[in-house]
Amino acid sequence: VGLREEIGEQPAAIRRLLVEGREAIARAAAAIRAADVESVLVAARGTSDHAAIYAQYVLGARHRLPVGLATPSLVTLYGVEPAFRHMAVIGISQSGASPDVVAVLGAAHRQRVPTIAITNTRGSPLAESADHVIELHAGEERAVAATKTYTTELVAIALLSALLADDQEAASDVEALPAVVEAALEVESTARQLATERAGLDRCVVLGRGFEYATAREWALKMKELARVIADPYSAADFQHGPLALLEAGFPVLAVVPSGNAQDGLVELLGRLSAEFGVDLVTVTDRVGESRLGAATMQIPGGTPDWLTPVVSIVPCQLFAYHLARRKGEDPDAPRHIRKVTLTR
Ligand code: AGP
Repeated sequence: VGLREEIGEQPAAIRRLLVEGREAIARAAAAIRAADVESVLVAARGTSDHAAIYAQYVLGARHRLPVGLATPSLVTLYGVEPAFRHMAVIGISQSGASPDVVAVLGAAHRQRVPTIAITNTRGSPLAESADHVIELHAGEERAVAATKTYTTELVAIALLSALLADDQEAASDVEALPAVVEAALEVESTARQLATERAGLDRCVVLGRGFEYATAREWALKMKELARVIADPYSAADFQHGPLALLEAGFPVLAVVPSGNAQDGLVELLGRLSAEFGVDLVTVTDRVGESRLGAATMQIPGGTPDWLTPVVSIVPCQLFAYHLARRKGEDPDAPRHIRKVTLTR
């Protein structure tokens, strides 16, 4: 089983999580509700850290919970255990193995605040260090690059949010995701074509905003590790505070532009980048017939609420990076220099 198969397994993996993981997610939600939680800290690395960024927006937008990204080096390099008062601490890691992520949960556990592990690996050090374990049920992920563990991490966070709010409508929207992700896989021929036309791509910026900032970061990581593209991800807001100076005619700009609060500003910005600088724009969107986004568009199904769209919008990005890697002669199943499990301390 290789990367392409694992991309295709995502609907089934999400379906499994929604059934087999629901009770554990409900228990974690109950624990957060029972404790005097005023904010959340998330410890994670790499792709899992992008799921943490998604959690910042979901728990922030839907629960008014400030969510911080942990600084594990404080614990491991400087020997400082932050004061976690009134916090819940979540560790996200498909392998559950990285010592620095585990160290943050260990510190939180010693301070007796609720700890939750979101992991694909039962019995892993991360799972062992947490009060509550949300298993992803994604099945073994063999490809070095994470795909199905990323989307299941997002869905675990989304369902946690729905159950935390006791929000039936939100829970039904989450349950609709496997079918939507299935439909999004149909974009593959477009993704392949757009990647093939860009066989020389070796640098780009990747833009998203709000819920889709996580997608921009994850798309950029897939571009780097699979296709060896220097891909620099930005929030569309931050991008205008300096990096905009990079642009010139033909500069590749990848952007995630779904419906929702971020859409108008993004469409306007991208229209300007095309008109003023003549950038080479590739977008992922659920909007139909938006001429300012240009022709190089990977269409995802509409109708999904914006807070859940990142589960869907990453699919064309994964396929684009996969096909670009193949076109460039890279082996998408075995990127050079890196391993499936990276242990950082
Ligand atoms: C994913 O594509 C990467 N190869 C890598 O960044 C990975 O996500 C990171 O090492 C974290 O792994 P974990 O989820 O097992 O902790």
